[in-house]
Amino acid sequence: MVGGLVHAYAWGRSLVPNVLYEPPKKRRLGAPTRFPEGSTFLQEEKVFIVRQGAALRAISAICTHLGCTVGVQDAGYHCPCHGSAFDATGENLSGPAPRPLPWHPLSLRGGALIVDLGSEVGPEVTLEAPLPPDPEKPSRKSGKGSAKKAKGEGK
Ligand code: FES
Repeated sequence: MVGGLVHAYAWGRSLVPNVLYEPPKKRRLGAPTRFPEGSTFLQEEKVFIVRQGAALRAISAICTHLGCTVGVQDAGYHCPCHGSAFDATGENLSGPAPRPLPWHPLSLRGGALIVDLGSEVGPEVTLEAPLPPDPEKPSRKSGKGSAKKAKGEGK
């Protein structure tokens, strides 16, 4: 009886493929205009999106020593676990990290920024993307809304 159950389980298990489910390497990050000048950390993807004007790049936030998440420090990156330091291009300057932080390619699809965490590019590879709205300039939408409100208040 028990032997039959074990055999049935083994047969049933053989119908299920041995597949390792991993999150997709290409991640959709939303509109490129949501990334301001400088570095923006994305917790889920563990990358920094670096904007310099219209140019966007993505650098990994995963330390090449043992995989801790690095933070921005001075003009580069610093790992809190064992003290590795990286410059702004990701080059390892000090500490036990054996390699630079990798850069990942960015692309635009349907107006959304895509990062490919499964590929690497050089730090010089950038993507030209629309700039975020200037916070100094008033938007047209807010102007219209306040005009309507003013009309309604007068009645
Ligand atoms: S994990 Fe970053 S220095 Fe060790």
